[in-house]
Order: sequence, then C-alpha cells, then structure tokens
Amino acid sequence: MTGIKHGVRMRSIAALLIIALACLVSALSSAAPSSAPQQVTLTWSDDPRTTQTIAWQTASFCPRGRAQYAEAAAGNGLPVNAVAVVARGEPLLTDGEKIIIHTATLTGLKPGTRYIYRVGADGGWSEPLSFKTAPDEARAFKFLVFGDTQNDVYDLWRAVLRRACGTNPDAAFWTVVGDLVEVGQDPEQWDAWFDASQEAIDIIPVMPLTGNHEYYTPLWGERSLPSMFTARFKLPGNGPEGMKGQVYSFDYGDVHFVMLDSQAREGARFLPDMLERQKAWLEKDLAATKKQWKVAFLHKPPYNSETARGNGAVKAAFVPILERHRVAVVFSGHEHVYARTYPLHDDAVAAAPSEGTVYVTAGRAGGKARVKARAGEWHEVYYNPAEEPNYLVVKVAGNVLAVEVYKLGGDLIDNWKIEK
Ligand SMILES: [Fe+2]
Repeated sequence: MTGIKHGVRMRSIAALLIIALACLVSALSSAAPSSAPQQVTLTWSDDPRTTQTIAWQTASFCPRGRAQYAEAAAGNGLPVNAVAVVARGEPLLTDGEKIIIHTATLTGLKPGTRYIYRVGADGGWSEPLSFKTAPDEARAFKFLVFGDTQNDVYDLWRAVLRRACGTNPDAAFWTVVGDLVEVGQDPEQWDAWFDASQEAIDIIPVMPLTGNHEYYTPLWGERSLPSMFTARFKLPGNGPEGMKGQVYSFDYGDVHFVMLDSQAREGARFLPDMLERQKAWLEKDLAATKKQWKVAFLHKPPYNSETARGNGAVKAAFVPILERHRVAVVFSGHEHVYARTYPLHDDAVAAAPSEGTVYVTAGRAGGKARVKARAGEWHEVYYNPAEEPNYLVVKVAGNVLAVEVYKLGGDLIDNWKIEK
C-alpha cells in the first residue's frame, strides 16, 4: 500500500516537474508564454444582472486558471480585496496542438455595477479589465449588431469593432449575426478573429450566433457541427437538446433575445430535425417571457434580397412563430447587404408598424462584400455596403426601439424606430 502511494506521489512530482519545466521553456522561448491568458472573452451564460462569464485560452496545460474580481474603486488596478474563482479547464485540439479553454462564471454580483477583473494563473495574468452588470430594473440601454465578419483577413473587422465600440463605449453587449469566420473549423481563423476582437471582447460581452460558415471545415465540401464556436463562446445552455450553447435566449432590460440557427442544410447530417427541435423550443421560450420587447436573430434572412438565395424552409419554420409572439425585429446576416423590410405580418405589410415584424439584414462588418445583390419587393430600405463595411446601434428605451446604421467612416445609412 505504502509502495503504491509512494509510486503515485513520485509520478505526481515528476508530472508537476514536467509541467513546470514546459511552462518555463515556453515562457523563455516565446513572446506569449503558454500560461499567459489569450483571447479573453466576456459572454453571459446566465443572468446578466448578477453573473459574468469569462473565457480565455492558454496554449498548453499550465496551472489551473483563476479569475479575480472586485467592485471597481478609484483607479483601474485590481483591488487587494479581489475575490478569486477557480476556472474550469477544457482541452481543445487545434491543428494537432492541445490548448486549454478556461471558463469562470462569476456569480452573486450586484446589478448595475462596474467590476474590475483579471484572469490567469501564477506566471501569467491578463491586465486588469472591467465589465458592468446589467441593472436590476429595465432602464434604457443600447447594443451593437454586426453583420458577417468573415474573410481570411480580419483587419476590417478590427476597424469596425474599434469604431463601433469607440463611439458606443456604453453598449451593454454586441453580437455578430453568424459567419464570424470563413471556415468555422479552422483554428487559425478563430485565432485571427479573436485577435481582432480584442478591441472590445474583454470589456463588452459578446452574444453571437452561428452562420453556415461556422459549419465549414478546411476540407472543401465537408461539414461539421460548429464545435469550435461552442467551445470558445460560453453561452446560455437553455436551448433545445443537441443545440445547447448554440441556440439560446437571454434577457437584458425589458428585452427578451432569442438566438436561432438557420443551418438546416449544413447541419442536416448531424441534426436532421434541427428546425423541428428549434420550433418546439421557440414556441415555449417566447410564450414564457413577460418582456415588453422580443428580438430574434437568425443568420439566413427569412426575407432575402437575392431570389436565388431564398431560405424557404427556414422562413416556413420560424416566421409564423415569431410573428404570433409579436417579435418586433428579426436581425439576420448572410447576404452582406443592409436591408430592412416594411413591418410584415403573414407575408403582407402590417396594418400598423407595431403590429408587424421588421426583418433586418445587417450588412457586413468584415472584408467580404457582394456585388450582385438586389432588393426584394418587401424591402423599405436597401443599401449595399460594397464600398465600406457597416454596423448597427440599437437603443431600447421604454416603448421605443430605435436603430441607427453607420458606415465604418461614420456616415449614417439608416435611422428608424418602432414605438409600442
Ligand atoms: Fe452565411
């Protein structure tokens, strides 16, 4: 017995020495030590009023990650009374190299309060960063919507995010309407995307959704479930079975947000009943909310611009449910144009704007533009940002939901609102 214990202890000591040595070698040989946190990302996997989820990666298995946080006092440093939370570590294989995704969810936070935090472990910590919890009562707030950020190069995306968050540093959160990267199962593209997103992703939470490109693999024509998306974004697990962390809903202020997955074709091999699963879930989810506003996100637009790219099955699955539950706005992407429909109900213009659903295609926030797009008969406003990417600022205040759409350079493309 003693011999077994001794052997286990010796093996443990040897393993610790190997890990420590690996960390030391890595720290000495690389500008970014493996134990230093990278791609620090804020999301909400639970209530935005009282929790904050933080994820980050390290390049190899070094000490177990921790998050330290405290209410923000004067100055930007981490106060000495910071609370520590041990992170959960999950290995992820990327191009044959093992990395660790660390996740910590801070709970029991005060609503409407700014906190300072840092993540890491002995040997490597992030700089002190901050976030703000959602207020307890429904106050006016804004969030940012970005069209597809995809391409192989993310310099334009970096510029759009910098501009949008620089002019709206008080945004509660931001989202990308799918197609964040060109090849969703290519870890190098995610590294480039997160690198560009460091402009804001560690100080303003991101609540993204999947597009068809999140299902693409580096092998042309092969598809996969969007496992790199779900591994890196820690989102609410309240979605339908088999789609948790990918299809979800959450509340902020007086708005209920629903993030859906329109990739029935790309995911057919893995989840042939993807639309049916979501329909049943969506019906229940929307029936349960008491929020004044309901806003949905869906990568492929039900009311598309290009007839050749129609999304009939997606439209048939979701639109009747969304309209029955009076969802005010549905944001989509996929087409890389900015398009806004009249308020619609049952495929016709609604009797009053507040009785219809406005379908918005968000344009593009990355390098990929479409030249041949054209408006559909249902579009009240249509603009192709072929020259310059764009972003949307959505403000919700009481019974008014207002949207401003800007070019990267600051010119206004569209400005509209819904009043209840
Ligand atoms: Fe797409």
